[in-house]
Amino acid sequence: MNTPATVEDPSAVPYVLDIKGLRLWLPGTARPVLDGIDLSVSAGETVALVGESGSGKTLTSRSVLRLLPPGAGASGTVRVAGEDVLTMTAARLRALRTGTAAMIFQDPRAAINPLRRIGDFLTESLRLNRMMPAEEADRRAGELLVAVGLTPAALRRYPGQLSGGMLQRVMIAAALMGEPALLLADEATTALDVTTQAEVVTLLADLRDRFHTALLFVTHDLGLAATISDRVYVMYAGRIVETGSADALFARPRHPYTEALLAATPRLDAPQGRLAAIDGQPPDLRAELTGCPFAPRCVHATTICAEQAPADRPVTGDPGGGVHRVACHHSDRVQGSATHA
Ligand SMILES: Nc1ncnc2c1ncn2[C@@H]1O[C@H](COP(=O)(O)OP(=O)(O)OP(=O)(O)O)[C@@H](O)[C@H]1O
Ligand SMILES: [Mg+2]
Repeated sequence: MNTPATVEDPSAVPYVLDIKGLRLWLPGTARPVLDGIDLSVSAGETVALVGESGSGKTLTSRSVLRLLPPGAGASGTVRVAGEDVLTMTAARLRALRTGTAAMIFQDPRAAINPLRRIGDFLTESLRLNRMMPAEEADRRAGELLVAVGLTPAALRRYPGQLSGGMLQRVMIAAALMGEPALLLADEATTALDVTTQAEVVTLLADLRDRFHTALLFVTHDLGLAATISDRVYVMYAGRIVETGSADALFARPRHPYTEALLAATPRLDAPQGRLAAIDGQPPDLRAELTGCPFAPRCVHATTICAEQAPADRPVTGDPGGGVHRVACHHSDRVQGSATHA
């Protein structure tokens, strides 16, 4: 694993990823598109970031590599292995992107040059950025292809000769080439069919255990999040509205938005029937927000919800010792998913 120059004792760093108070402004918007995000991931841990389309999941995960849209302004801290990504030098940022942290994107075909062999694609970064001899880089690429369930023969293939599922395995191997401490997977399995998706999710969990990687798994699919993650962050309109262990949060959500998302998720054990959809739309970025962003769509909302933004606080009686937190004035009224099954 890579150890940042500024941190002498890696064991003193509690989280591989530690985001605190991240705010992100984009040109032409009336409020921050990310509004005070706190999120952490430890080594060997899988953390899911879930929420509806447009809630800010991709912007959060891209901020970790400082891949911000043009004209964006950011404040807060985004520490990876102890170093703040938002303020690090260009040289440290390059080292971060080619080593400490790696991103697996949703669409492998869009992220890979169809005219170059898989082997060249896999080894390029190590050869160019770390001056690794070609032979050694080839050997590492071959080993990683085996680790992701392919054979070293794939090194000589072109992207067009591989299926979508095989290509996503290549993308995962590519992400692991630099021995990252942190892996970011943004809807990495969404484009795959259900069987391949399950295989790739299992593979990611195996690799996380084997390499003790911290994994941030971004998805709009709550079923997948429940399968793969230790902890979950639920995002709405650029804010974290609820977080907790996957078990506690899915068994007894305390935010009406999490409850509504769960009710809108197909469950294998639920009786057949119409799925509940969440009425209404998320707030427009061109409008300022007062109060709770979910209030206009919330069945529990009262006057205070329209007037005051709820502070994030620990859920009382959380068996997880305080990891379950919620930002809702009326979390005690939320009954949990069972009533919606
Ligand atoms: N480059 C950009 N320029 C302007 N607005 C952007 C840009 N990228 C994202 N946004 C806006 O920021 C908000 C959050 O976007 P983001 O892509 O992070 O959402 P998401 O949760 O990943 O959604 P999805 O599930 O659809 O991928 C959205 O309202 C989106 O329109
Ligand atoms: Mg996204």
